[in-house]
Amino acid sequence: MNNLLKGKTGIIFGALDEKSIAWKVAIRCLEEGATFTLSNAPAALRFGQIDELAKICNAEVIAADATNMNDIENLFSRSMDILNGPVDFVLHSIGMSINVRKNNPYTDLNHDFFLKTLDISAMSFHRILQTAMKLDAIKEWGSVVALSYIAANRTFPGYNEMAEAKAMLESIARSYGYHYGKKRKVRINTISQSPTITTAGSKVKGFDGFLGYADAMSPLGNATAAECADYCLMMFSDYTRKVTMQNLFHDGGFSFTGMSNELMDLILKK
Ligand SMILES: NC(=O)c1ccc[n+]([C@@H]2O[C@H](COP(=O)([O-])OP(=O)(O)OC[C@H]3O[C@@H](n4cnc5c(N)ncnc54)[C@H](O)[C@@H]3O)[C@@H](O)[C@H]2O)c1
Repeated sequence: MNNLLKGKTGIIFGALDEKSIAWKVAIRCLEEGATFTLSNAPAALRFGQIDELAKICNAEVIAADATNMNDIENLFSRSMDILNGPVDFVLHSIGMSINVRKNNPYTDLNHDFFLKTLDISAMSFHRILQTAMKLDAIKEWGSVVALSYIAANRTFPGYNEMAEAKAMLESIARSYGYHYGKKRKVRINTISQSPTITTAGSKVKGFDGFLGYADAMSPLGNATAAECADYCLMMFSDYTRKVTMQNLFHDGGFSFTGMSNELMDLILKK
């Protein structure tokens, strides 16, 4: 490995099981020389496999519901105790929609669930950044990444109100990127990842269709979770110090492809 993150410390939210993108990021951070704490919602600690990951990474697991300010404050305080001060990087890899889980169509949503989706999947990012800034828990030139999806920019019907959550998430990266950049030179970006087979991803209606369509449209094919982890590492490294407030597509070229020969053949049934 390249010791890209040698001596760096961080907090990784959202590793549930070994399919999770955050799980792959944690393993790669370890390989590149970082030390970090792991966090997930209390319920996820009970039914997920995060303890297994913690053993591999020699990392402490700190429970935090990303919608609860006390939990987040405790997580940052404890992480700073364990890691000897402010951290260099934070990964927000959190998403959940009860409407998606219950298969409620976009035109017949439960709005209490809608609010919960926004709170967990987007406002949590603001909560995390606001807490980090208040506690001065991220070092100068630190890097924060959240994971997004192209439904923030273009409509994918089965993605439901998660589209609004991702649009808000990307907007928070821009707005907070300004304030945190000015105050502490901390950079904040979102990575818009290809459809990926994980617990959250597979809950989306017609997910196999999304996956196949994106793969056929992308000149380089879909980006895998492992490749997404590599991109996150680059964003945490010192090689991207002036990249901030961006939504970075990591999708094999999907976002800028209008049509591919593979899809054309399929439509014309060649
Ligand atoms: N899988 C995909 O196709 C895909 C594509 C683009 C972006 N993403 C995004 O990547 C991120 C990670 O998802 P994943 O695909 O690895 O699935 P995942 O299910 O492994 O991860 C989602 C995580 O969110 C956590 N979470 C849910 N509610 C929470 C709460 N209240 N507090 C704290 N954590 C909570 C879950 O416990 C889980 O660990 C999400 O933001 C997702 O939207 C996924």
